[in-house]
Amino acid sequence: MRLKDKVAIVTGGVKGIGREIVRGYVREGAKVVAIYVSSAAGHEMDRELRSGNDGMALKVNIAKRAEVDEMVAKVVNELGRIDILVNCAAIYEGAPFMQITEEQWMQVIDINLNGVFRVTQAVAAVMLKQGSGKIINISSMQALMGVSLMAHYTAAKGGLISLTRALAAELSPLGINVNCVAPGVTETEHLQALLPPEYLNMVGKTTAIGRMARADEYVGICLLLGSDDASYITGETIRVDGGMSQVWPQMPGGPVQA
Ligand SMILES: NC(=O)c1ccc[n+]([C@@H]2O[C@H](COP(=O)([O-])OP(=O)(O)OC[C@H]3O[C@@H](n4cnc5c(N)ncnc54)[C@H](O)[C@@H]3O)[C@@H](O)[C@H]2O)c1
Repeated sequence: MRLKDKVAIVTGGVKGIGREIVRGYVREGAKVVAIYVSSAAGHEMDRELRSGNDGMALKVNIAKRAEVDEMVAKVVNELGRIDILVNCAAIYEGAPFMQITEEQWMQVIDINLNGVFRVTQAVAAVMLKQGSGKIINISSMQALMGVSLMAHYTAAKGGLISLTRALAAELSPLGINVNCVAPGVTETEHLQALLPPEYLNMVGKTTAIGRMARADEYVGICLLLGSDDASYITGETIRVDGGMSQVWPQMPGGPVQA
């Protein structure tokens, strides 16, 4: 078990990619606290975690500093320490740049970037006292490749990549590794409700692997980055995008078997 006796917090841990990370961490022996803001899925995850004595799900709005501070105090009080933080919570929906209102812009930045600031600062205070910790920020391939209708989201996710490097510079000498994962297009309920299947399938086909990711295909990288095996990895942004950013779409007629 790669995470035996570790305590992890996963924001956005009751749905989509975050839920798979929570389950993957539990399978490897961690006690996990899954953070959500408002969802029946939150209660389900709370039952799932408590029934196996594997942790709990907590309703915390990462846009509210007081709620974040209270959550971190509760985790330390009940579980004693925090070894891993996965910043996975985010909101996203499409809007043309010229129609994004100042309120929409501020809301996306406030959750997707400022939320990471709040949770990370509160958790890092605990990790600094311990002299150890692993922080994993979930960004997006959209921060590395231009994409239309997502300027606010893309700006926030690009900020996470820079924040990862800045925090690695400050915190790594003190025992905290900070890394980032940039997922590609992924079959989650949220994304599939937002975009038509024809478009998603077309994007999936432009990857080297030839399909969209499943939500559980980020568990491996998050296990590595959360474990002691990542002791010399910090400041990195790791693309998990099926090769989308590395290869051209297939030529007509391909792929062809020998
Ligand atoms: N699905 C994709 O194709 C894709 C691609 C690239 C990156 N990502 C990133 O991966 C992560 C997960 O994506 P997903 O599709 O699984 O998302 P999702 O919408 O299924 O889950 C998001 C989670 O964030 C939580 N959340 C939202 N606002 C919050 C707040 N204010 N406080 C606390 N929690 C809050 C929600 O409760 C939910 O559990 C996100 O960071 C997303 O930007 C997703």
